[in-house]
Amino acid sequence: MTEREKKIKDKKTTVGILGLGYVGLPLAREFASAGLKVVGFDIDDKKVKTLNSGRSIIKHVTHSQIKKMVKASMFGATTQMARLKTVDAILVCVPTPLTQNREPDMQFIINSSKTIAKHLRAGQLIVLESTTYPGTTRELVAPILESTGLKAGKDFHLAYSPEREDPGNKNFTTKTIPKVVGGLTDKCRDMACELYNVAIDKTIPVSSLEAAEATKILENVYRCINIAMVNELKVLFDRMGIDIWEVINAAKTKPFGFNAFYPGPGLGGHCIPIDPFYLTWKARQYGMPTRFIELAGEINTNYASLYYNKNDGSAE
Ligand SMILES: NC(=O)c1ccc[n+]([C@@H]2O[C@H](COP(=O)([O-])OP(=O)(O)OC[C@H]3O[C@@H](n4cnc5c(N)ncnc54)[C@H](O)[C@@H]3O)[C@@H](O)[C@H]2O)c1
Repeated sequence: MTEREKKIKDKKTTVGILGLGYVGLPLAREFASAGLKVVGFDIDDKKVKTLNSGRSIIKHVTHSQIKKMVKASMFGATTQMARLKTVDAILVCVPTPLTQNREPDMQFIINSSKTIAKHLRAGQLIVLESTTYPGTTRELVAPILESTGLKAGKDFHLAYSPEREDPGNKNFTTKTIPKVVGGLTDKCRDMACELYNVAIDKTIPVSSLEAAEATKILENVYRCINIAMVNELKVLFDRMGIDIWEVINAAKTKPFGFNAFYPGPGLGGHCIPIDPFYLTWKARQYGMPTRFIELAGEINTNYASLYYNKNDGSAE
């Protein structure tokens, strides 16, 4: 057993989580419950104070869970980024919105990478969890971290593991949703898997950073396009006097080859309308339009305006 493995096994590894929102906080809870000390980092002073007083900031992590973690000294939040030096692993869970031009807004990933670079020390494991286009970790994050003179894959370890959090889902939690992991090197990936295996039931190693980044984008593109399809059929079936809900429920009795998606303006989460456009932006560099994504975006936007413009408040 390596010294690192022993440290994890003996629960002497400290995990830093950068970005304490819908993704970062449940992750902090899982590591703390598994017995690893967690330091949460955020730029939002109010959030940090609330958490340290033993209160939660999101619905699906309860006040009592936070209180218990804080009381047991398994979790503490801070805005003091210099403390990043003290942790063994840093999991980055910062936002990835779109700009006004519907292009990836990378400011949070860039800023958090710069912050980490200021305090980076040899031996640390850095894992990006934010949803983003394939290539982000290698092309954007690695150079910022390497500006310190430390070399990724040699002096420190770099991995990408997409968060598949589904807030409020009663059947699956952060712990039970398998975690896909890609590394800059095989060693980086294995180190990240080792760490996640302490808190998450199952890790799925993949061959590269880009495969892990693309996995998350595929999942969200898949939802976005299928929801667009049923949104379009909803409008058509309405005109034909057919109840789409009855049709979907009948179709889903087929035991293979059909997954049910339901019409709606919200696309089942705020990420679905955004994340696919990260791929659209990247695809331009490869001279390839992502026509499915563009069309799905257009149909879903039209459906949402139809939905909200209805006087009875419902498109059903
Ligand atoms: N919310 C979800 O259900 C969900 C599910 C899967 C994946 N994701 C992805 O996970 C990522 C995070 O999403 P979220 O919903 O948790 O966002 P969020 O807005 O709830 O939380 C992000 C946190 O990061 C903090 N932050 C911003 N910049 C920072 C910096 N430089 N240093 C430290 N902290 C910083 C913010 O203050 C905030 O507390 C996004 O890429 C998102 O697409 C979200």
